[in-house]
Amino acid sequence: MDQRKRTVVNIAEGVRTSDGAGVRLTRIIGSGRMMDLDPFLLFDEFKSDNPDDYIGGFPDHPHRGFETVTYLIAGVVDHADSAGNSGTLQPGGAQWMTAGRGLVHSELPKQKEGLLWGFQLWVNLPADSKMAPPRYQDITPEAIPHAQLPDGVVARVLAGQAFGVTGPVEGIVTIPLYIDISLPPNTSISVPVEDEKSAFVYMAEGEGEAGGTALAAGTLGQLSKGDSVELAAGSSGCRVFVVAAKPLNEPVARWGPFVMNTDEEIEQAIQDYRAGRIRD
Ligand code: CO
Repeated sequence: MDQRKRTVVNIAEGVRTSDGAGVRLTRIIGSGRMMDLDPFLLFDEFKSDNPDDYIGGFPDHPHRGFETVTYLIAGVVDHADSAGNSGTLQPGGAQWMTAGRGLVHSELPKQKEGLLWGFQLWVNLPADSKMAPPRYQDITPEAIPHAQLPDGVVARVLAGQAFGVTGPVEGIVTIPLYIDISLPPNTSISVPVEDEKSAFVYMAEGEGEAGGTALAAGTLGQLSKGDSVELAAGSSGCRVFVVAAKPLNEPVARWGPFVMNTDEEIEQAIQDYRAGRIRD
């Protein structure tokens, strides 16, 4: 089989900002140099051991027209929504929320001290799924399988398939791949990523290379087309995410927590929210 290796075609560093009730975070997709990367609309990292940076959390706010994916590495986050769903995200766990036609929810750190470290990714929905009923997939840390690879490389598969392991996230229209890979110092791995998908790597910790391009901690590398990407750790090792999904190639109309295809649909979402119609 003729494999084509993906390379880094664009590097984005995050922009420091705050959102919700004063949560300090780094926005990597969704502002600055990378407004979007179809179908990805936003990618945030929040990492702090200072409660002043996160304790306000994200009180009640709506979403419509896309999916929010939260992956928590450290800390504990409570969530609750207007349909009566609630739960607690644990360290190492994830939540894949398909907002669809919309809901109002809160995401609040439960802890009062210590490290909070996590990520939120927004994945767009195609026109015919934007008004679907909301759906949650709450994933406990134990439900995320990992592949133990040569040289001590470990790959946790949240969504999609890699190294003979299938992630627990199911039934997502863009067929996502989301892998969290830990590489010991000076190791490398080739990760298959289907050619039809848009893909990026994110250096969550340490430093290394993707497709031969050096990436520092906190930088994202957008990948070219191809069938696989080569990852290599530097002398201190690294933790890198590989994220991919099918692009939608649809018009994007975006206003805060609403992402639709047209301005008219955005206006409708704002009216629905003001009238209390965005709830399950
Ligand atoms: Co939210």
